[in-house]
Amino acid sequence: MSEESIIRLASRMEQLPPYLFGMINAMKMEKRRNGDDVIDLGMGNPMDPTPDAVVEKLVEVAQNPKTHGYPMASSGMKNLKREISLYYQRHYNIGLDAEKETIFTIGSKEGISHLSLALLGPGDSVLVPAPAFPIHIYAAVIAGANVVRIPISPAESFLKRIVNICESFHPGPKVLMINYPHNPTGKLGSLDLFKEIVVLAKRFKFMVIHDFAYSRITFDGYKAPSFLEVPGAKDVGVEFGSLSKSYNMAGWRVGYCVGNPEIIKALGNIKGYFDYGIFAAIQIAGIIALRDCDDTITKQVAIYQSRRDTLCSGLQRMGWDVEPPGAGMFAWIKIPEPYSKMGSMQFAIEMMNRANVAVAPGVGFSEEGEGYLRLALVENEERLRQAIRQMRKALQDMDKEGVVK
Ligand SMILES: Cc1ncc(COP(=O)(O)O)c(C=O)c1O
Repeated sequence: MSEESIIRLASRMEQLPPYLFGMINAMKMEKRRNGDDVIDLGMGNPMDPTPDAVVEKLVEVAQNPKTHGYPMASSGMKNLKREISLYYQRHYNIGLDAEKETIFTIGSKEGISHLSLALLGPGDSVLVPAPAFPIHIYAAVIAGANVVRIPISPAESFLKRIVNICESFHPGPKVLMINYPHNPTGKLGSLDLFKEIVVLAKRFKFMVIHDFAYSRITFDGYKAPSFLEVPGAKDVGVEFGSLSKSYNMAGWRVGYCVGNPEIIKALGNIKGYFDYGIFAAIQIAGIIALRDCDDTITKQVAIYQSRRDTLCSGLQRMGWDVEPPGAGMFAWIKIPEPYSKMGSMQFAIEMMNRANVAVAPGVGFSEEGEGYLRLALVENEERLRQAIRQMRKALQDMDKEGVVK
């Protein structure tokens, strides 16, 4: 008789597949331990430094023991909340009530996860454009909700599908999760698209969560609109933002959520149970980022744009069909024939093993991403060129060995 194990996980854990990027990361770490120089285009983890003024403020404030205790409010200091409302006024001409319409989170990923727990439960469904950044799907799965994936493109059929689903599901979806500029595809949002979404949200009574993590990483003069710019958007939803990408502050864990006051309040309530908020010294340094660091964003965006050009033109010279992204930190690339046959995960493993290049397999962003790779623009141009040379050599070797027929 087999003995029942003492260690038994919650049934929700069965719904969480192995985190594919975790597997790629583990391979990368193993290779690096063995002395291999892996060029990491896998994760969207900015490798450039946080602005000096932000670091200096942290160092200064962290010396004050008053900052060492639990922060006074888990949802963010008054001055930081005021700063994000000023930021929205300055950049998007949107007025926000700092107290009721803004909240800070321990990175936007934490905020999205806890907001999903506050809004969704068994019997609820959420619409998620796919391929998707995994937490957009799994925050709802963890909350016990039903996830309905809809292909993100083309935009017209995306909206039509929302209508079809809302008309054929009873009860209809409770939440639509959107993300523009989109990770991983780089698809851009527009005020027209957001207007249509607000109309549909009101017609079918679903809430909207807009993940605006790449709000400021935009190229060729494009400015990404805020969802809240659309009149009535605040009636239906909220927007998440992050200091991670714009200010190279991914490790600092500062995100925010702005918009509908009832939703913000619910997020604040649930966070009050789960956490005590962001380290106070980081919150104060965050004020400096939001207030004083526009120049560094401009410089950083120029760096990403130039890397994008280097990477995309290099791949095009290899004969790959590449559409350079208009925003974000990634190129979303169709794996050419015949290599696509092996599947994006196997292709990513081949690139890791043969080329010492880490890439994110499209399937990691759900089935809709199969056949694609996502390459992050985080390494410098010299290393991007090196990555392309190594990938080309790896493909030549694979051809010689007949790895794919
Ligand atoms: C679309 C998207 N949303 C959210 C996040 C997470 O951001 P944060 O560091 O604020 O948790 C990422 C990070 O890669 C992302 O790509």
